[in-house]
Amino acid sequence: MKYFLDSAKLDEIKIAYEDYGFDGVTTNPKHIMASGKSFMTAIQDIANYVADKPDFPVSVEIDPHLKTANDMVAMATKISQISPNFVIKIPTNPEGIKAARHLEAIGIRTNMTLVFSPAQAIMPGKIHAKYVSPFVGWKEDYGDDGMSYVKDIMTIYHNYGFDTEIIVAAIRNATQIQQAAIYGADIVTCSLAVYQNSFRNPYTDLGLQIFQNAWDHTETGD
Ligand code: E4P
Repeated sequence: MKYFLDSAKLDEIKIAYEDYGFDGVTTNPKHIMASGKSFMTAIQDIANYVADKPDFPVSVEIDPHLKTANDMVAMATKISQISPNFVIKIPTNPEGIKAARHLEAIGIRTNMTLVFSPAQAIMPGKIHAKYVSPFVGWKEDYGDDGMSYVKDIMTIYHNYGFDTEIIVAAIRNATQIQQAAIYGADIVTCSLAVYQNSFRNPYTDLGLQIFQNAWDHTETGD
């Protein structure tokens, strides 16, 4: 399962790539805002960093105000010219599907985002979008079972042999990461803090204390 970092902060992206060997990045307008930079500066800085990393895709979202497929295609085309690593996030709605279908046909890869039901995930598969992003965390924030619709999407994709990769997005905790892995999801995306929490366990810290105690009561023999 690939690990994507959900962030537009360059310092976090560097840690993800250089320290942990993560596989890619996803951004959204909230992350760009949190980077404290303008949209163009934030994405240009990321583009510069990934310029020598051809296998490190970066999802960049178009202006969420855009209403027509034509406007979405125009902005996606402009952004995609900044970096070959960029995959363009397009909202999963009627105009977005039209736009993404056109973009994929002209070789601009898309990540169909804001998916909240299995039915919504079918068209991204049919049009061969590069990625589809079900937002598990947003569903679970409001009491829905996020992972069950991911499982349903995986079943549908398996049934029809869709090649679109499923990014289990808006992951909030280690349980969701492990469930995604158990289901065999292609990719998860979440913050650096959530990943780092999934790397640790209080028993590991306790075990270290026990071993430190033993170490301290043993001659090193140097
Ligand atoms: C996915 O591509 C989105 O950027 C994302 O996961 C949104 O989730 P958030 O609410 O955790 O930022």
